[in-house]
Parts: sequence; C-alpha cells; structure tokens
Amino acid sequence: MSAKIIDGKQVAKDIREEIRLEVEQLKRSGVQPGLAVVLVGEDPASQSYVKAKAKACEEAGIYSRVIRKSEAITEQELLKLIQELNEDELIHGILVQLPLPKHISEDAVIQAIHPEKDVDGFHPINVGNMVIGAPCYLPCTPHGIIELIKRTGTSISGKHAVVVGRSNIVGKPVSMLLLQENATVSVCHSRTPDLGAITRQADILVVAVGKANMIGADHVAPGAVVIDVGVNRVEGNKLVGDVCFDEVKEVASFITPVPGGVGPMTITMLLKNTVEAAKLKRIQEKQEA
Ligand code: GUN
Repeated sequence: MSAKIIDGKQVAKDIREEIRLEVEQLKRSGVQPGLAVVLVGEDPASQSYVKAKAKACEEAGIYSRVIRKSEAITEQELLKLIQELNEDELIHGILVQLPLPKHISEDAVIQAIHPEKDVDGFHPINVGNMVIGAPCYLPCTPHGIIELIKRTGTSISGKHAVVVGRSNIVGKPVSMLLLQENATVSVCHSRTPDLGAITRQADILVVAVGKANMIGADHVAPGAVVIDVGVNRVEGNKLVGDVCFDEVKEVASFITPVPGGVGPMTITMLLKNTVEAAKLKRIQEKQEA
C-alpha cells in the first residue's frame, strides 16, 4: 500500500484564502491586523523563516513589521523593545524568532510579551490555558498538525497517538492537543528504550526530533498516519524530515512530505492567531466605549 501524501501546502493555501477574506472584512471595519516579528542575529534558518512570515502577512493583507537586531543586543534592550511593542496600537501580535543568542533568557523574553499579543502561544499563561482546554492562542506548529490530521478524515478520538520528541515548541504541546482530542498519547524521547516498540503501536505518529531519517519503515505500523515535523538540511543542501519518506510511505496510510507538509501550516496558524488578536482587541475596545 502506498500512503496518501498530505499536501500541507494546499491546505495552508485554502486556509490563508479564508484568512485573507477575513482581513479584508476587518479592514473595512477600520482594523488592520498587525504582526511584529523580532529577529536577533544572523542565523540563516531564522532569517528565511522570518522572511516567509513577512511574505505570508503581506499576501493576507496583514501589516507586518520585521525588527532586526544585532546578536550583541542585551537582554534589557530586547525586553524594552518588547515593552514598546506591547504598547504599540498597530501591533496585535508579537513573535520573537527562536532560538535567541545564549546570553539572552528565552523564558524572560517570552514572559515579557503580553499574553494577549503572544500569537506564538508560548507564554506560560497561554500554555496553561491550553493544558486545561481554556481559550488561548494555540501554538502554531502543534495547531497546524492537528488541522492536518483532521483534514485526512482521521478521527483522533480513541486512537493511540505517539509523539517522538518533547520540545516546548512542538512535542509537549502537540501531546496536550492530541489528549484534548481524546487520543491516548505516548510521548517518546531520547531516553526511551526500544523506540520502535512504542512507535509501532501508533495509529497516529508525530515525529519532532530534528534528526534526519531517524524513523524508518520498521518503526511504523501498517496504516498509521505519519506527521513529520523535522526539517533537516543534508548533503547537497537538500531538506529532509525525521522520517524516511520513501520507505515509510509504503507502510503508512497518510504521510506529510518535507518540505510541503507541516511547515506551511505553522505560518498559516500564526496568521490565524494574529487575526484573532486583532478581533479580540476590537471587542475590548467596543466594551470600553
Ligand atoms: N523557531 C522555530 N519555530 C519557531 C516558532 O514557531 N516560533 C518562534 N518564535 N520561533 C521559532
């Protein structure tokens, strides 16, 4: 059996068109959603992600402001910048591209972003609300993954979902969202012995480790839905995921490609959160008026 390829690019395009129409409507009512993206340093991967985020905003009609800072910026200076953006009326969402240089505490920076402008969903208040199922900004990549799984027509409820990786950005939050969708969730990581024994039990397998081709066909049960979050550059500058696509697609029922799977969904969910932030602000202003 050969798996169906989950076309994240097409799904993202469809959702972005819905977002564009919503932004048009918001603009007619006098509000243009605005996103500030802060990039510290010269990391090439971060630079290309930030460029893609700004381009996606432009295409959706969202105002975007990219603020580039030298690697030498102090934590104090960065916190001051965030404070200014928290108070900026044109900015509804703030995203600080991670990772940050070692001399800056990512936790301190994330906590400085006003939770109502935290469109990444990284602030502990948003994380806490996500865990208890309360309204919040959902983190973009995990939210995009859930959307992709749902759009395969797979019901998550009652399934065994196995997540490989426990990062704060993907592994932990996607595990929580899968649990919220009533999956039975196992989380595997670098200390898990006999990884394959667990991953072979998965109806839904999400891999977010950052290690090229670490999941082969022998890790996957026939018919599993496989979501590959890895983005790894290998020889020849080629991008590959954490899953050996060519062999796993012969076993799985659905699989995401890299590139063109989860990646486009992350930015789409960021746009969605930014529009939500603008709508929230408009509601608050109406209540105050
Ligand atoms: N670095 C890698 N992924 C992300 C993300 O989703 N948000 C931010 N802010 N930085 C990242």
